[in-house]
Parts: sequence; C-alpha cells; structure tokens
Amino acid sequence: MTREHKVALTFEGADRIDIVCRDDEDVITAALRQGYLLLSDCREGSCSTCRGFLVDGEYDQLLPHSPHALSDAEEDDGLILTCRLRPSSDLEIDFDYPADRVGRYEEGTRNGQIVAIESLSDSVARVMVRTNAAQAPLQWEAGQYAQVTLTTIGVTRAYSMANVCGADRELEFLIRLLPEGRFSGHVAAGTALGEPVRIRGPYGHFTFRGCTNPVFVAGGTGLAPVLAMLRELATKAPATTATLVFGAKTDLDLLCSEELSEIQSVMPYLDVIATVGNPTPVWAGPVGGVTAHLNSVEPSASFYLCGPPGLVSACEAHLTERDVPRGRIHAERFVETREGQQ
Ligand SMILES: Cc1cc2nc3c(=O)[nH]c(=O)nc-3n(C[C@H](O)[C@H](O)[C@H](O)COP(=O)(O)OP(=O)(O)OC[C@H]3O[C@@H](n4cnc5c(N)ncnc54)[C@H](O)[C@@H]3O)c2cc1C
Ligand code: FES
Repeated sequence: MTREHKVALTFEGADRIDIVCRDDEDVITAALRQGYLLLSDCREGSCSTCRGFLVDGEYDQLLPHSPHALSDAEEDDGLILTCRLRPSSDLEIDFDYPADRVGRYEEGTRNGQIVAIESLSDSVARVMVRTNAAQAPLQWEAGQYAQVTLTTIGVTRAYSMANVCGADRELEFLIRLLPEGRFSGHVAAGTALGEPVRIRGPYGHFTFRGCTNPVFVAGGTGLAPVLAMLRELATKAPATTATLVFGAKTDLDLLCSEELSEIQSVMPYLDVIATVGNPTPVWAGPVGGVTAHLNSVEPSASFYLCGPPGLVSACEAHLTERDVPRGRIHAERFVETREGQQ
C-alpha cells in the first residue's frame, strides 16, 4: 500500500512550499502533480539540476543515477537528487535558489519553448514547440488545437497541431503571419525563436470519425489539422480512399507539397487537388476556389472543412445545396480572437 509523506521545500531567502509525496514517486514528480515545476532537466539522475540538501527525513536509497550528478561522498554530506528520491518519512529539503525560479502551471497546461521556425511561404511559418521534459507529453487527437500563450508578450491564440501526437513532446503549428497580428506578427518579427510558451489543451472536436471515403477541404493554414489527420491515416489506414481539396491565394502560397507527396506515397488512393485563386504564369494546375472542385466528389462522402470562416461557410452552403446531410459535414473555423481576449 502506498503511503504519503509531507515534504517541506525551502529556498534561498527562507521561502517555503509544502507538498505531499507518495513513497512510490520522486519529489520532482510529486511537486509537478501539485503544480510546482522545481528546477530539473533530465529527470533520470544524470544532470544534477535537481540537487537539494536533505535537512530532515529519510529515504531508503536513491534511484539509479550517475556519480557525476551526485557522488557517494556528496550523498554522505546530505546532498540528494530530488528526481531520484522517494521518501520513506516526512522530509525537509533545502534548495540553493530562490522560490521565484519554481515554475507554476495550472492543471492541463504545459510549459515549452519555440525550438524551430521555418518559413513555408511569404506568409506562413512552421513553428515547432517542445514541451518541458519535466511534464508528461501533451496527448491529443489528430485535428485538435491548443491555446498557445507567448508568455513574453502575454498573448494567447488558438493553433491546430499539424503533427500526430507522439512521445517526442513536439507540437507542429502552421501559422499565417499577419504583420499587424499580435501573436503571428511577433513570430514574423523573428524574435520568437527560443522563447517560452505555455500550451493549454487539447481542445476541439474536429477529429476523424472513421468514415470510408473522406473528403478534406482546407484553405491556407487550415491545412494544419487536416495534415495531422492525413498523417494518422497514412500510418493507421493507408488503403483509405480519400480526397484533399487544398486552396490557396496563389501557387506560391501552397504549403507542405513535400509532406503531401510523402503521404501520397503511402496512401495510393489519396487524391490531392491543389487549387489557386490567382495563379502565377508558371502554374499549370487547377484554378479557382475550393467549392468549384467539390462538384466532382461523391456527395455520399463525409466532409472535413477547415480554414477561414468565409471559406468554411461557402463550402457548407455548397454541400447543403447538394443534399449532403449536416451529420456528414465536420468543420473548424479559424475565427479571430474575440474582443476582450488577450
Ligand atoms: C480553433 C482555432 C484554430 C486555429 N488554428 C490556426 C492555425 O492552425 N493556424 C493559423 O494561422 N491560425 C489559426 N487560428 C487563428 C489564430 O488563432 C489567430 O486568430 C490568428 O493567428 C491571428 O492572431 P494574431 O494575434 O496574429 O492577430 P490579431 O492580433 O488577433 O489580429 C491582428 C489583425 O489581423 C486581423 N486578423 C486576425 N485574424 C485574421 C485572419 N485569419 N485573416 C485575416 N485577418 C485576420 C484582425 O482583424 C486584426 O486586424 C485558429 C483559430 C481557431 C479559433
Ligand atoms: S533532473 Fe537531472 S539529475 Fe535530477
């Protein structure tokens, strides 16, 4: 039977945080469970970031760790690795840093960092976020979105994950860069790389419902959740017959051609129709809005629509006119942040 122990964490300047820690969990994990992110990095006993001094209390044995992170002599002197310590009594642990270095987060949020920004076109960037190793990776269903906060400027916006949830703690976003945009303008300004972010979520019901001949319709960065669903289908059901109608202003704005070709190489029955409103002279592909290309698809299909609200509404109206039942139309509108939101 597991037992709980009281653990007093004290910091430089005599600040104190009280948590409880079960005897089957380490102190870092227990603190996280209660919303405190103590300084830590590897969480496997190799980096020594989580060192503290055991003022009072007992433990049976530290979990396996590198002698470079903590030698036996240091342990004899009372030093411990909090990521490797499971208590066997109430404890008091002192840290040599101030309490304001302890991160706080609400339940369901992850702290992370922008680890890569790649320009995909003049107006769209791929932004990669890696969440903190100290927290469990975010779990989401392909098609869902997260509320992303740029903590340096205090702005929160919704963005859909373009990748499938995995163990690597990375979230991929396709962000349309609006020069006046508070969030996307900050990304466009080129200073966001390396900045901290807070991720809340996942949210949304725009997920694949398992129908046999889906039609995905995406406008601009509306491709993000669709890409996630197609990537998932490519892994789990590559023989699916599916259609993607992808619209952009010009052929220069068409995103992720390589990724779509990769998906098509494993999904032989995926038809990709990329259509542009204002083609450059070199464009030899389809021209016009996405609705023009919905006439050729089977009305018995299920439809997944995503992008600017105007595009989604136009598609819905078009499909309803063609007697597609509402239950077979799934949509996500990239609506703007409402007045009063950050
Ligand atoms: C569920 C959901 C998922 C979303 N997923 C994505 C995504 O994956 N990728 C993505 O790029 N966006 C996505 N959005 C939109 C995103 O949340 C922001 O609204 C958008 O990035 C603009 O934020 P901003 O702070 O840069 O601009 P703001 O500061 O909010 O706006 C600046 C100016 O740009 C105008 N503006 C705002 N949005 C648009 C727009 N879409 N088109 C034209 N003008 C606009 C505003 O009216 C204002 O004048 C999503 C929205 C929702 C609701
Ligand atoms: S976090 Fe690296 S040793 Fe504990």
